[in-house]
Amino acid sequence: MKHLMSPLDLTVSELDELMDLADDIERNPKKYAHTCDDKRLATLFYEPSTRTRLSFEAAMMNLGGKVLGFSSADSSSAAKGESVSDTIRVVSCYADIAAMRHPKEGAPLVASMASSIPVINAGDGGHQHPTQTLTDLLTIRHLKGKFDGLTIGLCGDLKFGRTVHSLIEALVRYPGIRFVLISPEELRVPSYIRQDVLVRNQIPFTEVERLEDAISQLDVLYMTRVQRERFFNEEDYVRMKDFYILDKAKMEMAKKDMYVLHPLPRVNEISVEVDQDPRAMYFKQAQYGVYVRMALILKLLEVELPC
Ligand code: NCD
Repeated sequence: MKHLMSPLDLTVSELDELMDLADDIERNPKKYAHTCDDKRLATLFYEPSTRTRLSFEAAMMNLGGKVLGFSSADSSSAAKGESVSDTIRVVSCYADIAAMRHPKEGAPLVASMASSIPVINAGDGGHQHPTQTLTDLLTIRHLKGKFDGLTIGLCGDLKFGRTVHSLIEALVRYPGIRFVLISPEELRVPSYIRQDVLVRNQIPFTEVERLEDAISQLDVLYMTRVQRERFFNEEDYVRMKDFYILDKAKMEMAKKDMYVLHPLPRVNEISVEVDQDPRAMYFKQAQYGVYVRMALILKLLEVELPC
């Protein structure tokens, strides 16, 4: 049984295959409209979400399948103290595949060990968010046609931002990749990413505090919000929350083909005036999320693909 807990659960060639399938789905949506007619997806969301949950649901509906689930811990038996292992055992009787988001790091992994259906990690605490990474990779591949040799700037809350952790893990497998890590001192990437991923794989990276000092070198700028829900106190969040604001003036310092990505939701870190810039790709990115989740569901369910 295949689950998806981290982007490393897929090899580079499996990732390529998945993105090729997502491209074909984008070009020929009708071809796939009944591939999951008899299948059900359970969305088990113990933490808030708009895009991830709805894009999973849209993905399954586009494949002809059905969706069931819950969108907060309060409306599930977690509120009565049920473990994720027990929940997934039961959900395995009602659905063919499950996407789980949970505030605790590792909860989807624990669930996958008790599950008889494929489980997808839809975000676990400040740890990983592999399907956002699939979305990000597909977007970058469309915009740049490759990953090799790119300089990627990651800006904002690199400590708690799970999308950043997963994206770095996935990208270090491509030759010539370089990172510029842009964050306040307190929100730098955790050491399991710096040491175990970047240093161990001998990936060139720099860490800077000011976006202005880095923006002109970048091929892609990946902005993130400060993850308020993971802070221990509100004062620290308030001090940090507007540390970065990408505006028109900063965009003028960037290359003409430096694209801006953001997993969303945005708070203040990208000024709305940037939305008009043709390099602003974050809404398009959300659209790619549906195609790549459709591709993932088909692969994990081992559905025979139409020719
Ligand atoms: C991200 C997440 O949940 O980690 N959102 C998303 O899935 N698109 C980023 C965030 O919440 O800041």
